Amino acid sequence: MYETTDAAALTGAPPRHVRADADTHDDFRRDLLAGLSKSPRSIAPKYFYDAQGSALFDRICDLPEYYPTRTERRILELHGREMAEVVGPQADLVEFGAGSLEKIRILLRSFDARALPRRYFPIDISASHLEEASRRLHAECPWLQVRPIAADYMNEAQLSGLDASTGRRVGFFPGSTIGNFDRDEAMAFLRLAARLLEGGGLLVGVDLVKDPQTLHRAYNDAQGVTAAFNLNLLRRANAELSADFDVRQFAHYAFYDPRRCRIEMHLLSRCAQTVHVAGRDFSFAQGESLHTENSHKFTIEGFRKLAASAGFRPGPVWTDEASLFSVHWLESPAGGAGAS
Ligand code: AVJ
Repeated sequence: MYETTDAAALTGAPPRHVRADADTHDDFRRDLLAGLSKSPRSIAPKYFYDAQGSALFDRICDLPEYYPTRTERRILELHGREMAEVVGPQADLVEFGAGSLEKIRILLRSFDARALPRRYFPIDISASHLEEASRRLHAECPWLQVRPIAADYMNEAQLSGLDASTGRRVGFFPGSTIGNFDRDEAMAFLRLAARLLEGGGLLVGVDLVKDPQTLHRAYNDAQGVTAAFNLNLLRRANAELSADFDVRQFAHYAFYDPRRCRIEMHLLSRCAQTVHVAGRDFSFAQGESLHTENSHKFTIEGFRKLAASAGFRPGPVWTDEASLFSVHWLESPAGGAGAS
């Protein structure tokens, strides 16, 4: 059944795992002020995804230059049966950063009627978006218990909603979101996931190292949608934190660094200017950067080694004909890391 506000109905208080959008707002203020106060300046890419940012990201996914989404979708469609096989029957699926719940639908279609997953726990920071998407999914798949968790999946204290998962747990982390993390953060995420998914495993989408032109084009599309997505962060700050960024005085700048195997996205100040955010002043020199995102690219072997050092046992890997993108099955052995 669809369950999320049952505890609220009984006690009048929201259940502890339901986090309001307002909490995200306080985090945004704190992190943007901290990120503008250091040198070089930076802000975590999770703040791209307000309603407008999420809509712009959906448009990015449809761009001809942005190959990851359609390639991963094709891999899920083509190899879904094998994936359903490793997931196993009656699983509890946990999706990290579930967004609009599009990709889980592709996976769900691949299951045999007798081996369907039992519960689905989509975790996402956007509470309102998540509720609506969960309701729709449950309407389409009434046999699936959908239990949305409005949380930052990197913050274990917010994941008490997973206590309702008593079966074999399988994580789903598509889209190469793991590429947003630096090595330490990726390790922290994988270690947490390995612990949460002990006895089960993780299906994770990972973008691959490839020729720099293809990568460059994917983050510098001709229509300027990626630029609008990047700049939307400033509009969001103006709307939510009474900031006064002049969005036209900043430029989208994205490039591939082959040494670090990553795309970097920045917002560059077009002139010397002073911006006010939540009552504080920040001066930008002409050309000064606010670093908004890293998107790491991996080799298949490199990713398997990373996963293994976090306690997973790397299993099958699925990829497309051109080796643009990969989906990995990582088993989390019962008994924890190092168990045989
Ligand atoms: C959602 C983090 C995988 O890095 O490709 C797309 C976000 N940024 N275009 C990516 C993004 C610019 C995307 N991830």
